[in-house]
Amino acid sequence: MHPREYLCNPEVRLENAREVEKLAKRLQSEGAQYFLVSNDAMRSALDLHPFGIDLRWIDVMKTHEQEWSVFEFLRLYNLIDSLAFGQRGLGMPHWVMVDLAVLPSAITIIAWPKERLLEEVRSGRYRPDLVEGLMDVVRQAEDGGYDGPIPFAAYCAVPTAQSSRWVGWSLWSFVTGYGFATVAKGLALKTYRAAILDGVTQYDNVSLRIHTKFGSLRLRSAFLDIHTAAHSFVYESDVVSTLRHAHEPTFWMDSQDIECQKRMQKCIDEGTSDFYIVAPGIVREGETSRVPILEVPID
Ligand SMILES: CC(C)(COP(=O)(O)OP(=O)(O)OC[C@H]1O[C@@H](n2cnc3c(N)ncnc32)[C@H](O)[C@@H]1OP(=O)(O)O)[C@@H](O)C(=O)NCCC(=O)NCCS
Repeated sequence: MHPREYLCNPEVRLENAREVEKLAKRLQSEGAQYFLVSNDAMRSALDLHPFGIDLRWIDVMKTHEQEWSVFEFLRLYNLIDSLAFGQRGLGMPHWVMVDLAVLPSAITIIAWPKERLLEEVRSGRYRPDLVEGLMDVVRQAEDGGYDGPIPFAAYCAVPTAQSSRWVGWSLWSFVTGYGFATVAKGLALKTYRAAILDGVTQYDNVSLRIHTKFGSLRLRSAFLDIHTAAHSFVYESDVVSTLRHAHEPTFWMDSQDIECQKRMQKCIDEGTSDFYIVAPGIVREGETSRVPILEVPID
């Protein structure tokens, strides 16, 4: 049996879509603003009303249409992205954002008015160095006369050379614990109408909890030694219908277990098994974290 048939259960996906929709609508009713940053040539290919939610359209070639500076909005997006990624050093260079994200595709950005964001970051829940970094970039924008919304969460993906296959990156949320990263990715996937989504992440990244909400992650590469971040791998999720969260993983892997990562890679190379990271994606226990993995032998 093909692994995808083995994992087939479209209902689970429907349930998750409803969860994302409900969460996105609630956060919007509490003041979150959703933006889609792209350009005119992409507009007809994108769904500007995912789950019936209106995204505010920003055309980067018609910046005069906004009452505040789009350059400053994107600069803030980019700087706060780097703050959120922090020591992982995975912030996106500004030119990559322009040339490789907003020109060929779109970035989904969540923002709050400045006062709301400052109130949140002063709540005492955030690390002092992160708060200082954020205040600093906001202050610089204010000094330049910027009074628009401040981006604090986002996701982007672009189509690949293979039809319907997308590759995503830069899932982040400075404001944590409300579900904003889940909403950013959910809105974006619906907006893009992506079918297959590839991405790179690390076995010790809590974002695995978010990624697995959109389907099990098939490991295309279980051990990506060309990446600068340790424990990186390449996953594929079938976003439209076929993969489901299996009830039970075959085994749990310590996120630092390089030998296990290499063993899985060997099986992938030899074509003997497929491996999926299933929900809940990752479980933290003190200093360690474990990742639930389903092994599907290939007949
Ligand atoms: C990881 C990150 C995106 C989470 O953002 P967030 O808005 O807090 O995420 P959500 O609120 O949508 O949380 C989704 C799930 O992750 C869990 N989660 C989020 N941060 C967590 C943490 N630090 N520790 C444990 N669980 C965490 C939530 O509890 C929730 O779990 P559940 O719904 O399965 O019960 C954010 O911390 C971040 O930007 N990190 C740095 C950038 C990064 O590493 N991005 C991932 C690139 S692949």
